[in-house]
Amino acid sequence: MSDYVRVGRADEIPNNRGKAFEVAGRRIAVYNLNGSFYAIDDTCTHEEASLAAGPVMGEMAVCPRHGSRFHIPTGQVRSLPAVHNVAVYEVRVEGDEVYVNPTPKVRTGRIHG
Ligand code: FES
Repeated sequence: MSDYVRVGRADEIPNNRGKAFEVAGRRIAVYNLNGSFYAIDDTCTHEEASLAAGPVMGEMAVCPRHGSRFHIPTGQVRSLPAVHNVAVYEVRVEGDEVYVNPTPKVRTGRIHG
């Protein structure tokens, strides 16, 4: 657990919602998808909206500004106008506490041509 940073309590993140946290200088959105927790960059790769402020549709975070969709478990962008993925972070839940490893598990990339 030494690389992990406590970000908050699991019950602060409602089911099928995300919540943004500052973790080691990064803004990271933690999502609760039916009791499984995931973390991605909170900042949309298009024009920097907070993804956690937008809705969740299935496994997709929907950007509240222009509607790009990001697959929460993989960070992959799935619809325009954003063309770059977001980073993914490892999450652990110990009891009621949520921990995030601020070293990205998946680095950002571009998937649209
Ligand atoms: S800021 Fe997210 S799609 Fe434009």
